[in-house]
Amino acid sequence: MEILKIEHLSKIYGKGETVVKALDDVSFSVQKGEFVAIIGPSGSGKSTLLHMLGGVDRPSSGKVMIDNTDIYSLNETELAVFRRRQIGLIYQFYNLIPVLTVEENMTLPILLDQHKVDKKQLQSIVDALGLDNRLNHLPNQLSGGQQQRVSIGRALISNPSIVLADEPTGNLDSQNSSEIIDMLKMFNKTLKQTLIVITHDERIALQADRVISIEDGRIAKDEVIRP
Ligand SMILES: Nc1ncnc2c1ncn2[C@@H]1O[C@H](COP(=O)(O)OP(=O)(O)OP(=O)(O)O)[C@@H](O)[C@H]1O
Ligand SMILES: [Mg+2]
Repeated sequence: MEILKIEHLSKIYGKGETVVKALDDVSFSVQKGEFVAIIGPSGSGKSTLLHMLGGVDRPSSGKVMIDNTDIYSLNETELAVFRRRQIGLIYQFYNLIPVLTVEENMTLPILLDQHKVDKKQLQSIVDALGLDNRLNHLPNQLSGGQQQRVSIGRALISNPSIVLADEPTGNLDSQNSSEIIDMLKMFNKTLKQTLIVITHDERIALQADRVISIEDGRIAKDEVIRP
């Protein structure tokens, strides 16, 4: 089943002399449960692409369909709700809220939706991430690897259909880096969540089912590694 379909996506930043075509007519689709790595040189448009897929920033032209919803046909409020429920975003620098505890950071998307936290589901994510004895800590009382695990927990708490990660291990040593990737892969396999990861690390890219290379805002290569 096709969970994501991108058609003729372009993004132009700036105007006149400072204009940058960050994405140039990109089209592809992703099957439910697929693990896709996105690679490419610095400035090639990888983060721009992820922002367009994640509903963070509107494209200049083109379409993003997630689970048959044309996300940019939604208004801002609808898009914010859609994003919170269907898309899990993970960044290089965690983006946790410093004054909230680990548990509060992780459950924030649920509370913003005015839903009740499913304690059993929270516990199973906390256990899988090895954060059980850190729930009342603040982000600055955690290691980088632990902070990234909290941000993964926050991304997964709404049980999204797609998880998007922009260099999730870019700030971590190799030990923490492989633990984080193992966890993302484990959730990808057990929860059948579609996983799209931007990485500069070839060892990570080679663990994906498929590798898409971006160059100058275009798809330069799209290779299936594991059918
Ligand atoms: N908000 C913005 N305003 C203007 N130009 C931008 C903006 N964001 C990105 N760009 C430009 O768009 C191009 C693509 O940037 P992008 O951040 O997507 O690259 P990237 O592939 O993620 O690079 P890196 O590997 O360094 O993170 C770059 O030339 C960048 O300068
Ligand atoms: Mg980037």
